[in-house]
Amino acid sequence: MSDFNKSAWAENKFAENYLDKADIYIVERRKMFWFVSSLFSHFIQGKQDVKLLDLGCGDGVLTGELLKINHEISATLLDGGESMIHKAEERLKGYRNTTFIQATFQDLLGGTVKLGTYDFCVSSMAIHHLEMREKASLFHMIASCLKSGGRFVDVDVILPPSEELEQWYFAIWKDWLATMMDRYNIRDEAPEDLIRRYKDPSSMNKPDTLGNQLRAMESAGFVDVDCYFKNGIFAVFGGKKQ
Ligand SMILES: C[S@@+](CC[C@H](N)C(=O)[O-])C[C@H]1O[C@@H](n2cnc3c(N)ncnc32)[C@H](O)[C@@H]1O
Repeated sequence: MSDFNKSAWAENKFAENYLDKADIYIVERRKMFWFVSSLFSHFIQGKQDVKLLDLGCGDGVLTGELLKINHEISATLLDGGESMIHKAEERLKGYRNTTFIQATFQDLLGGTVKLGTYDFCVSSMAIHHLEMREKASLFHMIASCLKSGGRFVDVDVILPPSEELEQWYFAIWKDWLATMMDRYNIRDEAPEDLIRRYKDPSSMNKPDTLGNQLRAMESAGFVDVDCYFKNGIFAVFGGKKQ
């Protein structure tokens, strides 16, 4: 099983570097968040007392986007990183109905952390840190804590199904990185290093194919499972609890 405390995410400096540069390094990150907001507005917004769960919340950026749509949401944000939880508390301090849990996905799967029931579960750029077996268990756990008709959406990096496609997706990402790093004058990292790291297990990056993850969601009991948006290795996908 992956060990969060041995990962770079347990180091404050690594986490801060990510927060500073996420919009630059992740292709169309804001557009992916827009898809999550749109899904929320279309399917969840009309419900009473909406309960949201954000897994691997980081600094709470995605929950923040949803709170802009409905500031009454009761949001539970979970992350393994202490500094990330502090950043999320700081970002969302203007909202009253927020609960912050510092815990790992492994704690969740091991049953040491108990969750409630939710209308909407989101995760962004976090579940790829788990092995496929753990991802599948997490999808089961998410299904078990969603209300009937509730939805789960994951914004994440995925593993392309072939080497050929991977090379094309890398070329798309490299073009994005070259443009953005030039625009924001980032000289301390090279696009090639970032691309190499994305599936480096020593960085705790364990992307799996979209196909395997969609099938795992179906096995976990989700229906309407689909990919809502995709650009190369970056995808927004999820399903509905029956
Ligand atoms: C790339 S950041 C994404 C943060 C935020 N969701 C975003 O989109 O900006 C990955 C987050 O997942 C958290 N994380 C990584 N592995 C984890 C694990 N095993 N359990 C809980 N959180 C984890 C990290 O602490 C970090 O905040």
